[in-house]
Amino acid sequence: MMGNSSKSDSSICKLILLLFTLSGTVAPTGGLGLGINYGQIANNLPSHSQVAALLQSLNISRVKLYDADPNVLSAFAGSYVEFTIGLGNEYLENMTDQSKAKNWIQQHVQPFVGRTKITCIVVGNEVFNANDTRLMGYLLPAMQSVYMSLWSLGLQKQVTVSTAHSLNILASSYPPSSGAFRPDLGSYIQPLLNFHSQIDAPFLINAYPFFAYKGSPGDVSLEYVLFEPNQGLTDPNTNLNYDNMLYAQIDAVYSAIKAMGHTDIEVRISETGWPSKGDSDEAGATPQNAALYNGNLLKRIEQRQGTPARPTVPIDIHVFALFNENLKPGPMSERNYGLYYPNGSPVYSIGLQGYLPELIISSKSNKRAPSVILLMLSVACLLLCLSFKNILTV
Ligand SMILES: *[C@@H]1O[C@H](CO)[C@@H](O)[C@H](O)[C@H]1NC(C)=O
Ligand SMILES: *[C@@H]1O[C@H](CO)[C@@H](O)[C@H](O)[C@H]1NC(C)=O
Ligand SMILES: *[C@@H]1O[C@H](CO)[C@@H](O)[C@H](O)[C@H]1NC(C)=O
Repeated sequence: MMGNSSKSDSSICKLILLLFTLSGTVAPTGGLGLGINYGQIANNLPSHSQVAALLQSLNISRVKLYDADPNVLSAFAGSYVEFTIGLGNEYLENMTDQSKAKNWIQQHVQPFVGRTKITCIVVGNEVFNANDTRLMGYLLPAMQSVYMSLWSLGLQKQVTVSTAHSLNILASSYPPSSGAFRPDLGSYIQPLLNFHSQIDAPFLINAYPFFAYKGSPGDVSLEYVLFEPNQGLTDPNTNLNYDNMLYAQIDAVYSAIKAMGHTDIEVRISETGWPSKGDSDEAGATPQNAALYNGNLLKRIEQRQGTPARPTVPIDIHVFALFNENLKPGPMSERNYGLYYPNGSPVYSIGLQGYLPELIISSKSNKRAPSVILLMLSVACLLLCLSFKNILTV
């Protein structure tokens, strides 16, 4: 139906049509509670204002960035979206100096106060994964001076400070009750936990059951990792039954924290997801599995489920990621975690009350909209394309 448009106009049209479709036919039922990681390691992503429109039409109200990109934060000014921003590992050394930390916050956070909601600064990402003891040594002092700077600027109530860990910081994760941190990290993690407890900051984990499945597809049940119906596994020490691996991982982190003397720190998931495509040795990386993982996870978020060990604390999740990122290094899966292609069309439908609906684009394969609506959409898209073409073409 858009055969007459040129190629670049056509992808803009698709995005416009997606937005139009969403705003016209989807009625989100209140906040999803879902957060999403907006990674930008790509050279083909839509503009920040287009992304702002996309996320708002999906009613996604929490976004995590890996930096503090002022262009993104500006594009969301006046929206209800809450941002978690990041300070990359390369900043940690400088951030141990409180004057530099304060300067960074004055430049990257303060200008947005009252316009864009910034609720958390993630200081460093997977620092204990880098096998770099200098970096590990900077982590807590950097977090402390960022926190003290927020305090000195009166922002400590609206902005929390945390850091995100890989699940590799655990030496044991099963059964969940036996979760424990790697002994070599103990001297870093103990004071870190004390600090979390003092400032009431959540402990963030990047958790990917996909890695466990990919590592031994013969031993790990696909149903168990994809939140599909299965018998689950029972923790022999607690008798708690786990019907999915992510909850077992979260509770293993709670156990590890408890073993260090803390029961007052909430565990949240700063990243989780499933790739829709991978190399031939990456078992399970398919659009069907990715749709099941993210779709089933969304349902549980919507139900405000807690884990077996913390049934009253709803899981708190930022899904990875909004877009496929074509410039990420590593195996093919790394570039295929997105819920969306860069042109704004969904990589798969997760079939949940139209939260991430299929793009109504092709007149042949469309099964969801009556042809009259389709025709109206086509006309609307054409009109929109004609009127916005000059603005949107960059
Ligand atoms: C979007 O979510 C917010 C809560 O985050 C809710 O108040 C609002 O009603 C929702 N909007 C729509 C259109 O459902
Ligand atoms: C750290 O601080 C030094 C001195 O102010 C500066 O030259 C350098 O660019 C900073 N490093 C980063 C990653 O910002
Ligand atoms: C980490 O560093 C230690 C000591 O420097 C070294 O023995 C070990 O092989 C390193 N591990 C990895 C995974 O690089």
